[in-house]
Amino acid sequence: MQEKIVQIEAQALSAINSAENLQKLEEVRIQYLGKSSEFTNILRSLGTLSPEQRPQVGALVNQTKQRLEQALNERRNSLVKAAQQQKISSEKIDITLPGKGIKRGKIHPLTQVMNEAKNIFICLGYEIAEGPDVELEYYNFDGLNIPPHHPSRDMWATFFIKDDVILRTHTSPVQIRVMEKRKPPLAIIVPGRVYRRDSDATHSPVFYQLEGFLVDKNITFGDLKGTLTEFLRQIFGRKRNVRFRPSFFPFTEPSAEVDVECVMCDGQGCRLCKGTGWLEILGSGMIDPNVFKGVKIDPEKFTGFAFGMGIERIAMLKYGIDNIRLFYENDLRFLEQF
Ligand code: PHE
Repeated sequence: MQEKIVQIEAQALSAINSAENLQKLEEVRIQYLGKSSEFTNILRSLGTLSPEQRPQVGALVNQTKQRLEQALNERRNSLVKAAQQQKISSEKIDITLPGKGIKRGKIHPLTQVMNEAKNIFICLGYEIAEGPDVELEYYNFDGLNIPPHHPSRDMWATFFIKDDVILRTHTSPVQIRVMEKRKPPLAIIVPGRVYRRDSDATHSPVFYQLEGFLVDKNITFGDLKGTLTEFLRQIFGRKRNVRFRPSFFPFTEPSAEVDVECVMCDGQGCRLCKGTGWLEILGSGMIDPNVFKGVKIDPEKFTGFAFGMGIERIAMLKYGIDNIRLFYENDLRFLEQF
């Protein structure tokens, strides 16, 4: 019988130590120490032993039982610990990993250039006015000293909505809208979208202009030159030379096209400036007396200058962009560079 007990102990210990989880361990406990186990049967049969044998076998059975229970407890503890450890490491969060990061938006290059241009004039005391994109033919042409059927209308390839309604071809109609309602002194800029039937690498049928005009007593061509020279040097750099070239617009007299020294070759002559050393930037001139008469401002009392420029053109020259489409395609690889 003693032999049997030793044998059971050995088997039980090895089963305990190889139980791989708490459920298996409980099965082992039932198998070796449970009510119907061999071991329990031995305990029950102690009464049948002789009085000499009983104390010896009894002591052995009790010691064995204690050892097995201890082994069970140890195994149970180590399985619980391992399970906890497993849980901790499987649920671990690596707080040192970099976060997902939210991409920061950028202001569109055209908006940046428009804002920069507007700010320069706001600092010079100009205020902002706006007008409609869908415009009456009158404001776009007639009011600007461009009568119906006059050949100078060909300067603007116009989109017609109906007979006397068009998409404005420039921001100049806002000059008329403002001067109809308000009297000098006026210092106004007009940012806005304009439309022309024109489309190639440097022309888009929809583009942005910034118009400006100043009307007061004793405004001279010198004021025009000073204002636009200062503006262009703030945009293209202080050392850039600026020149004023005679030109024609029906609503200004005299008229001047304003050029800056080529930003690519510094006036040496290159592909960009077609060998001239100069880049054409804006149209300008002294407001024509006929325009003043149409809005009931006395041209004997007041004079003024006006100018208009394309924002895309300035942005293209400033940043060396050779295709106007890049502004409208929303390709982030392009936009992120600004
Ligand atoms: N409106 C003219 C254009 O779009 C530019 C301009 C504005 C010229 C004001 C002179 C004065 O071509």
